[in-house]
Amino acid sequence: MPLNRDAGLFMVVPLLRGALMQIHGKTVLITGGGGGIGSALGREFKSYGCRVMLCDKNADTLSKIEAALPGIHAVPCDVTDDAAIDRLKDEVERTFGGLDILINNAAASLDYSFVRDEAALEKAALEIATNFRAPLRLIKLFMPLLARAPEAAIVNVTSDLAYIPLSRKPTYTAMKAALHAFSVALRDDLEESTIRVFEVQPPPVNVGRKRDYYFGLGLQILPSVFAPAVVQSIRHDVFEIRIGQSQFTYWMSRICPAYLRRMMNTKKYYKGKKPPAAEAAEGSRTA
Ligand SMILES: NC(=O)c1ccc[n+]([C@@H]2O[C@H](COP(=O)([O-])OP(=O)(O)OC[C@H]3O[C@@H](n4cnc5c(N)ncnc54)[C@H](OP(=O)(O)O)[C@@H]3O)[C@@H](O)[C@H]2O)c1
Repeated sequence: MPLNRDAGLFMVVPLLRGALMQIHGKTVLITGGGGGIGSALGREFKSYGCRVMLCDKNADTLSKIEAALPGIHAVPCDVTDDAAIDRLKDEVERTFGGLDILINNAAASLDYSFVRDEAALEKAALEIATNFRAPLRLIKLFMPLLARAPEAAIVNVTSDLAYIPLSRKPTYTAMKAALHAFSVALRDDLEESTIRVFEVQPPPVNVGRKRDYYFGLGLQILPSVFAPAVVQSIRHDVFEIRIGQSQFTYWMSRICPAYLRRMMNTKKYYKGKKPPAAEAAEGSRTA
């Protein structure tokens, strides 16, 4: 197993050697491209001369991004809608004639109590559909296009919460853990192919949400700092990309998982904010 496969603390090693994957001129599809991280990644890939298509269910934010980033292709699409995904594939083929990099970034993130919330099953179904079923379907659908490319990549965006089950985000954390496990299995399955499988585990990234209990250790980073670091990591074949606080939570989750889980689930952690139980009683919100 090559050292750079799960770089962890040794991420510096692959970063010290020359770039492996050529980014320049690639075609890139990013789901959830209207959001903070998706749009920053779109901007970053574009700066490498890539042809970029952003898809998002939020047509308003998409059109603003399209206006701000001339040359970007923006396609409204709900990734939980199978017919819409089929149309998206046609659009990609029509526009690019193929695809080099697929980035599964769209996600729903709901704060709720599975025990107390009457709508718990509906909320769980939305997160399962958006955060797990959709990436799998997109990968299966785009696999023939990716396989045609001389050098391709699938990039699944999970979270540092993939390693930390949270009681106030029960199905969000479960689906991120599932996508993490799937990414590892898929990487092994594609080992002999020209398709690399990356996983991005973002730390808390400041995407301009007014209210967010998950502010980590107060070390939020900006999308404009995060996105270049992600693309650099892809260029250097860092397959599990943990930047900033994600490194810390990853190692804490390996060394003292019970302590980390207690710390992240405790009221004290939300200093001065409403405890999760109050949030659950109020309903939910999408991150
Ligand atoms: N920001 C962080 O601190 C953080 C930390 C860990 C992991 N992440 C992960 O990073 C990724 C990007 O998050 P972000 O912070 O950039 O969030 P964001 O700003 O909310 O962006 C997510 C985008 O995905 C869109 N979306 C949601 N459901 C969709 C669907 N069914 N079809 C198409 N688009 C859909 C959202 O549209 P609407 O606005 O209409 O819902 C939104 O534009 C997510 O996978 C998230 O779990 C983020």
